Amino acid sequence: MNAARVVASLHNRMRLVTIRTMAVVVRQVPSEVLIDLRHRVLRGGFPRSAAIFDGDGEAHSVHFGAFDGDRLVGCATLHRRPFDQQTPEAWQLRGMAVDDGYRSAGVGAQLLQAVDQHVLASPLSKFLWCNGRLPAVKFYERNGWRIVSELFEIPASGPHYRLVRDFSTIDRQRSASAARATHSAPASESR
Ligand SMILES: CC(C)(COP(=O)(O)OP(=O)(O)OC[C@H]1O[C@@H](n2cnc3c(N)ncnc32)[C@H](O)[C@@H]1OP(=O)(O)O)[C@@H](O)C(=O)NCCC(=O)NCCS
Repeated sequence: MNAARVVASLHNRMRLVTIRTMAVVVRQVPSEVLIDLRHRVLRGGFPRSAAIFDGDGEAHSVHFGAFDGDRLVGCATLHRRPFDQQTPEAWQLRGMAVDDGYRSAGVGAQLLQAVDQHVLASPLSKFLWCNGRLPAVKFYERNGWRIVSELFEIPASGPHYRLVRDFSTIDRQRSASAARATHSAPASESR
């Protein structure tokens, strides 16, 4: 490896160490807070309005932001949407995105934990699904999701698999106790 590559590699490691030692806090936010990040990461080349989803303003919709201080660095949204005819009562995960400079440091996993906690703590059905982009599928699988479809194309967005969150007994206990801890946390941390 030449000197420039060594320096670049060291720089990358230091950046990841910095991200991993900082505290990224996930909290619920209004959908408007997430639109610019969604637009930048998920809808590049499209008008900003393409990052506003049908259902963002619905009563049961929930929007999570991951913050490094005041800076929004990640986002995820839950809508109530049917999975199929047999499972009309379900949650759909949408708009999962982490800012480029903050990836691979666990921010995405932290957002998925907040999503799990919300679904498990809700009195509504626990069925959780998403259409996952092909490059993100490993990320979902490592966080307890399972592919349930063939590969299919979403126009302008590329190849996707449909995935469902596979809540095992252990996951369920862990998320439920974390949800209890979150719900008893100060309002600024949990909303
Ligand atoms: C998919 C996405 C949301 C994941 O966010 P992220 O913050 O990078 O996710 P994490 O850091 O939790 O996990 C990503 C990787 O980092 C690794 N990782 C997680 N925490 C880590 C840690 N503390 N130390 C070292 N590595 C870690 C994981 O093994 C994972 O590897 P993998 O992707 O090969 O499975 C992000 O890459 C993204 O926004 N991509 C572009 C938009 C997109 O595709 N969104 C999904 C639409 S369906």
